[in-house]
Amino acid sequence: MKELQERIVQDGKVLSESVLKVDAFLNHQVDPQLTMKIGERFAQLFADEKITKVLTIEASGIHFALATAVALGVPFVYAKKKKAVTLSEEVYSAPVHSFTRQETYQISVSKQYLSPDDRVLIVDDFLATGAALIGLTQIIKDANAHLVGIGAVIEKSFQEGRGLLEQAGVRIESLARIASMSPEGIQFIQAESV
Ligand code: G4P
Ligand code: NA
Ligand code: NA
Repeated sequence: MKELQERIVQDGKVLSESVLKVDAFLNHQVDPQLTMKIGERFAQLFADEKITKVLTIEASGIHFALATAVALGVPFVYAKKKKAVTLSEEVYSAPVHSFTRQETYQISVSKQYLSPDDRVLIVDDFLATGAALIGLTQIIKDANAHLVGIGAVIEKSFQEGRGLLEQAGVRIESLARIASMSPEGIQFIQAESV
C-alpha cells in the first residue's frame, strides 16, 4: 500500500536493523484515516472469502481489526494476553514466546466467540517472528474454525514469520514488506502501485 510505505519512510524511526518504531501513526498515536484505509484494503484483498469474523491480539492489532471488520461488516474478536497460565474450560488458549521481551505469555479467546462455522481473517500490526500469529492460528484450529488468511500491516520480511506461516499453508497479505532497514533507510520488497 503506497500511502503506508510513504508514511513509514516519513514518520517511522529505525531503531536498529530489526526494530522499527511507528509510534507517530500506528502504535501509540494513531492516524484514523490511514487505519480505515488499511481496513478497506484487507477487506478488498480477502473479498471472496466469505469472512465471518476478524481476529487479532490486544493491544496494537485492535484498531486494524476494527477497521477491517467495519469494511467487511462482521464482528471482530481480540485475544487477551495473560502472564500466568490460567487453565479454564471456557477459553481456547495458546502460549506465545515473545523474543523481544524474552517471556512467554498466554493468549486466550472465549469459546463463545469462535465456532466451527466461522471463516476467520487474522489481522495484526506486525509480522515479525510470527510467534503471536502462530498462537492465533492454533486457537482457530482448536475451535475447528476455518482460517482464511492473515493480513499484516507491516511485515519485516527478513524475520522468519512469513516462512513459518507459509509452510503451514497460510495465505498472507502484508501491506508493507520491508526487505531490510537501517538508520540510513528502509528497503521495501516492492514499490506498491496501489
Ligand atoms: P510476532 O512476530 O508474533 O508479533 O512476535 P515478536 O515477539 O517478534 O513481537 C513482539 C511484539 O513486538 C509484538 O507486539 C509485535 O507486534 C511487536 N513488534 C515486532 N517487531 C516490531 C517492530 O519492529 N516494531 C514495532 N513497533 N513492534 C514490533 P505485541 O507483543 O503483540 O504487543 P502490543 O504492542 O500489540 O501490545
Ligand atoms: Na502486535
Ligand atoms: Na506491537
